[in-house]
Amino acid sequence: MDPFDFHNPVRLRFGVGVFDEIGGCASDYGSDALVVTGASSARKSGLLDRTLERLEEAGVAATVFDRIMPNPTDEIVDEGAELAHEHGVDLIVALGGGSPMDAAKAIAIAATHEAPIRDYLRVEDRLEATEATLPLIAATTTSGTSSELTPFAVITTVSATMKSAIRSPYIFPRVAIVDPEATITCPESVTANTGVDVLAHLMEGYFSTEANPLTDLFAERGIKLVGRWLPRAVKDCEDIEAREMMSLANVYAGYVLSNCGASVMHGLEHPISALHPEVAHGAGLAVMMIAYAEHYWDRDPYRFGRIAQLLGRGIADAPVEQSAEFASDALRGLLASIGLDIGLEDLGVALEEIERIVDDALLYMGGAIAKTPIDLSRDDLIDLLEDSFTSR
Ligand SMILES: [Fe+2]
Repeated sequence: MDPFDFHNPVRLRFGVGVFDEIGGCASDYGSDALVVTGASSARKSGLLDRTLERLEEAGVAATVFDRIMPNPTDEIVDEGAELAHEHGVDLIVALGGGSPMDAAKAIAIAATHEAPIRDYLRVEDRLEATEATLPLIAATTTSGTSSELTPFAVITTVSATMKSAIRSPYIFPRVAIVDPEATITCPESVTANTGVDVLAHLMEGYFSTEANPLTDLFAERGIKLVGRWLPRAVKDCEDIEAREMMSLANVYAGYVLSNCGASVMHGLEHPISALHPEVAHGAGLAVMMIAYAEHYWDRDPYRFGRIAQLLGRGIADAPVEQSAEFASDALRGLLASIGLDIGLEDLGVALEEIERIVDDALLYMGGAIAKTPIDLSRDDLIDLLEDSFTSR
């Protein structure tokens, strides 16, 4: 076995009811917080008010920045950073799904560094965040990006039409608050999209050059949980058992993602939603999952065989490799059950855009694509997207 490294420094509070610990967790790290959240969902669900009450009880002052949109931009991050700076906050509290959490992490950097956040995202001569970055705690309201457990912040740079990630040890949240009950107001379509993001993080880590025995353990367990519980969570958003299991799968995905990073599907999805900001991240990933398995199942029959088995489509009493070709069917069945058996055309992407998407991916997501154990050329990536154009 090759030597390997496994690292995740985030304190995890998991379970129904832990949301109310947000005040106490915050007061361990600061006394004046910027609460970063989306425009409406945390307000509508009551979670924003609950956060503010718990912060007040714990003696933490709060300023709310509630302007984060899906696929957050560098401009909104700089605006939030300005507010944090003006109020002299000493802590960031992230509340919401992946977009508020990623924006909050970027604000934690930009609030205490001179340069605009785009300088931490550019392709060449990138700046690196320092220990001046504000501490952050994150309470997730989706089972999706695992941002509450990772050192990544994905931000769209408007002037470059580029959606790339900052990776810094200083943006690991100090505490991740994962309360399955906080996810029950997440609507059906968001539950489906974010669930596919969990599956993509698990699968990309499972197939990554960075995979190790521990990430494999989390990936296999997580894929099985997604296969069993995501359709139930989508069908009945208030099914707390399904929410709990998807929250757990998302935690497993966080340990995989923070150690392996993302790979080819994320590498191609980022340019898609940079060009089409209305595209939900999970939907952008769903379109290429089946084609990826169809194209490459015979390159790693053991792992694709395991995917088929974990999703309930393996051949009984046969070597695992014999199940590999059924991985794509297993993924098709799962995606169909949550209404995401879709193609690029369903996202409003034109066939003529595929070359630009691949070139952008190679320009600023080349590191992620290179983590695929299979050598993928520009033509291979174009083939993969062309075969993902219509629903499979
Ligand atoms: Fe993702």
